[in-house]
Amino acid sequence: MNARALVGVRILATGSSVPEGRLTNADFEKMLDTSDEWIVQRTGIRERRVLDLTKASGLTLAREALQNAIDAANIPASEIDLVICATVTGDMTCPSTAARIASDVGAAGAAAFDVGAACSGFVYAINLADSIVRAGRAKTVAVVGVDAMTSIIDYADRTCSILFGDAAGAVVLRADENPALGCIYQHMGADGTGWGSLYIPRQARDIPPSDIENKTRLGCLRMNGKEVFKFAVTKFREVIEDALAKTQLTPDQVSQFVCHQSNIRIIDAARERIGLDPSQVYVNIDKYGNSSAGSVPLCLDQLWRAGKITPGKPFVLVAFGGGLTWASSVWQTP
Ligand code: UT7
Repeated sequence: MNARALVGVRILATGSSVPEGRLTNADFEKMLDTSDEWIVQRTGIRERRVLDLTKASGLTLAREALQNAIDAANIPASEIDLVICATVTGDMTCPSTAARIASDVGAAGAAAFDVGAACSGFVYAINLADSIVRAGRAKTVAVVGVDAMTSIIDYADRTCSILFGDAAGAVVLRADENPALGCIYQHMGADGTGWGSLYIPRQARDIPPSDIENKTRLGCLRMNGKEVFKFAVTKFREVIEDALAKTQLTPDQVSQFVCHQSNIRIIDAARERIGLDPSQVYVNIDKYGNSSAGSVPLCLDQLWRAGKITPGKPFVLVAFGGGLTWASSVWQTP
């Protein structure tokens, strides 16, 4: 870890992985009192990718996403000196998912740790990675966002279960001689007073009195959809407006706003309030649902590979989630 200080940061490549399995709205119609019409109108989701949890886990997706990014970067994995993985659904609390995927892809010996910031996790992690590289503490960093949300869903809960899917995405970053490249603005925040709107209790004592009637199984995600919705609509707009104001960028100077995919109504509300062109705000929630920390890097990989991140134009990552947390990251590309 001896990169020169005051360097820039270049994204060498991106990768992603989603499971083959699909859970459609028609499948939910057979399982629950719901309808395709309700789900599409209220969320924009038509299907989500789901792991076969008897054979695979978030670790599988994380490893594949990182391997894809390393292959695309065309560098030896041994050159990676730090792996950061954002997840709230790691196979185990110890070891970290990051430590296992680092050794699985051939980067054993790299520093490795997980970041827990729920759906904001990947944006937190890439902000950290950029700061560490710019400080000269690492030269080549892999950042992964993954969540196996279906491992923490109670499929009897019709409000929560229809929203989530499984996915992972990754980027490989490297120090660059041009200090203008990389994250030119970042913001991260959290407000723990709202934690009870979105949480995963391990045991009965974790459950606040206000949620005691909730029948969701222990170990599964609990959500106050209305509260999260209100928070998200406001925060999404605030975070994007803050990023534009602090960088003095106008919306048309931005290549893409890569937003956490939680609900099409949340994305559209922010887009309309700020006046962003629909072509600048990527949406894949119809096909993948909300994959928590996997959502932003999955979008980024799909945009990157499709050539939709315009060279020389900044792009903006935005997310919010459990904690409650929120984060933005503005990137200047070569
Ligand atoms: O990454 C962050 C994670 N979470 C989020 O971003 C979630 C944010 N919140 C939301 O996206 C929305 O609040 C939901 C999609 C979860 C719910 O949509 P809503 O428009 O806020 O619905 P609601 O909670 O106000 O419920 C309206 C009705 C209720 O019935 P009653 O009380 O009016 O009879 C619900 O029981 O819809 C009912 N409902 C459903 N009906 C059919 C709730 N879930 C379903 C369902 N199918 N799956």
